Amino acid sequence: MAKSYHLLSVDDLGHSGILGVLDRAEELRLQPPQDMPFLGKVLGLLIFQPSTRTRVGFHAAMVRLGGAAIEVTETKLQQGMGRAESLADTVRSISSYCDGLVLRHSLLDEFRAAIAVSDIPVINGGSGWEQHPTQALIDLYAIRRHFARLEGLRIGIVGDLEGSRAARSLIQALGYFTPRELRLMSPEGRGFPLALLGGFGGTIIEVLQELTVEGLDVLYMAGLPEGLGEARLEETVRERFRLTRRRAERLPPEALVLNPLPRIDEIEPEVDELSIAGYFQQSKEGLFVRCSVLERVLGTSY
Ligand code: CP
Repeated sequence: MAKSYHLLSVDDLGHSGILGVLDRAEELRLQPPQDMPFLGKVLGLLIFQPSTRTRVGFHAAMVRLGGAAIEVTETKLQQGMGRAESLADTVRSISSYCDGLVLRHSLLDEFRAAIAVSDIPVINGGSGWEQHPTQALIDLYAIRRHFARLEGLRIGIVGDLEGSRAARSLIQALGYFTPRELRLMSPEGRGFPLALLGGFGGTIIEVLQELTVEGLDVLYMAGLPEGLGEARLEETVRERFRLTRRRAERLPPEALVLNPLPRIDEIEPEVDELSIAGYFQQSKEGLFVRCSVLERVLGTSY
């Protein structure tokens, strides 16, 4: 039984809840498409930042479960909007038309205020730089599919670990599964806030300002902010943290390279041809994780 009505972070599931979502996703992957369970609910997709996989993936998952999805992507609270409405008022209105919501928004205060007024379960589809729990579940699913376990692995996470909500949620989720090694690699000033590193007793933690792939089982390429002007890191820095084919070939042959996508420039396209490149399968099989999450949050599990 999950601890929370909403799914706002992986902590709302905990160790057994995370495994429950992954186990169910595996059942759904293995069964014929015509035998998918019937959920028959209406999902509101309130996506107020760019999104392809989360938006389309949850929409497709809801349709496969015999339901329907309504996408609302008009940006609220933008300067120049003729009829700006608070996110909370939007959520309050739409929650009376749907059975559940997926919400993505850049502003944490707005996000939290909207959750507080929702009458129906909300799945966090990405909140500010803080949380992206369903991406973390998709990442764990990909890791377990490859290694048949989550514990005891040597995991490297590289990129803007201060600003990547995908990386943050994955690190939070890995805290339940005691990696053998957690290697956090980021440019200066973009490191993971170490005060948030709880729950890693028994794990060797390394913090590096370079990309060092040797000996890793999993290399998670979280990417660097695309940004423009001063927000964009210099090309010399981006190059140091890019997975080139030459660098990828230094990974053990049974390693797994993951990326939440979209890919900007953090992985050279030449890496796609290598057997260690797992990111498109990760994205593809995310559908079953999203079906499992919808069933759990919108179904009768609560
Ligand atoms: N990984 C992920 O959240 O992708 P989108 O931004 O395309 O939804």
